[in-house]
Amino acid sequence: MQPPNGQSGSSTDTSQIITEVLDGIYSESGRANPYPLYARLRELGPVVTAPNGTVLITGYHEQLAFMKDHRLLKLPGRRLAATGWPDWKEHPSLRLMFDSMMFLNPPEHTRLRRLVSAAFTPGRVQRLRPVEQITEGMLESFSPGTVNWVEHFALPMPIAVVGALLGVPASDWPLFQSLAAAWTLVLDDVSPATVERADRSAIEMEECVARLAEDRAKQPQDDLISAMVAAQGDDKLTRRELVTMAALLLVAGFETTSGLLSKGLAALLNHPEQADRLRAEPELAGPAIEELVRYDAPVQFVANRTAEEDLEVAGIKLAARQPVWALIGAGNRDPNVFSRPDELVLDRQEAPPLSYGGGIHYCIGAALARLEAQVALPTVLRRFPDIELAGPPVPRASHLISGLLSLPVSV
Ligand code: HEM
Repeated sequence: MQPPNGQSGSSTDTSQIITEVLDGIYSESGRANPYPLYARLRELGPVVTAPNGTVLITGYHEQLAFMKDHRLLKLPGRRLAATGWPDWKEHPSLRLMFDSMMFLNPPEHTRLRRLVSAAFTPGRVQRLRPVEQITEGMLESFSPGTVNWVEHFALPMPIAVVGALLGVPASDWPLFQSLAAAWTLVLDDVSPATVERADRSAIEMEECVARLAEDRAKQPQDDLISAMVAAQGDDKLTRRELVTMAALLLVAGFETTSGLLSKGLAALLNHPEQADRLRAEPELAGPAIEELVRYDAPVQFVANRTAEEDLEVAGIKLAARQPVWALIGAGNRDPNVFSRPDELVLDRQEAPPLSYGGGIHYCIGAALARLEAQVALPTVLRRFPDIELAGPPVPRASHLISGLLSLPVSV
């Protein structure tokens, strides 16, 4: 039954379907392929309310309206307090993550975003020649046989690129990789054991970044940390803000871009005719990467905004503090926006994917992620014309940051 606002309520049948879908997307098969589950949800309407009161948005336009509405705020402290962490600012992992720009509202967010945007310019991204060098260097080490694409490329490559952008020495890239992996666990799980482990990594991450900032203050170089150090001062970044921002940039681009590189290659190898087109037509790289990030988004949902009072957004009635999930992966396959949405069509040019979010928090690293994938995926296909899947992909444990733990390929 549809209530007047078009928001599907919770009759017993509807509740059961929603519960099954939510259980399903966390299972291993659901993490590997959540799309049939989203389709079941979409049959109930573009917006449904789960039995626990959470509003789930599958519609493309409704998600965009939700992400762009400034009346919705990010208030991670309230959720942390409710889950047993009223003292979250005392925990380095929680403070470093949830006090970062990604979780702030205007005017603090506006100020930090302006300062970092002045340093993280499209020109700086385009000047990043290491993307080609890093790609070639990593692919050169592949010997004929089976390779785990995630371990040997899709994870270390974005780490190397963000490291080069920020100015982290190459010898420290593996250290940052392991610190980031342990620290970002708090995005999915704030159990005491996880927070304790994440705290240790966050402390070390903070110390390493602070040392780097000290070095660059003395001897500036052509890197992002130096540019951010130069942006310190009166109404500029404080030292703590700089360290928090650098740590955020380091981790926000690792697992997400790795998800694009790993799930993107898997999709291409599952559609050999499309892979052949990408090999043969270099000008296809731009639209192809947009299509791959639509087809299987590395961030599957955004669930961190709440209304402070009862309000309505694009026909969605929200009560104050009601949890809302924008299911990006579902919006990217909305049949009202994308024709044949479950098919991979590399030259598709319809609406932009929702994969990089929307509104004031739109991904600041989107241009960098695009560049990495536009270089890496065509290069690997051309260099290894016979590359094929050599076993089933293994999904990461997280449904939020969706990627692969391993992708065996033969080269
Ligand atoms: C394919 C790769 C990537 C995907 C799918 C992705 C996805 C996203 C999404 C969905 C958001 C919005 C989150 C929200 O609204 O709550 C976001 C924000 C952000 N991303 Fe990315 N991202 C990617 C790569 C990167 C890279 C390479 C960097 C940096 C080097 C980066 C840095 C950030 C930052 C700092 C924010 C917060 C922006 C703000 O709050 O103003 N991301 N990203």
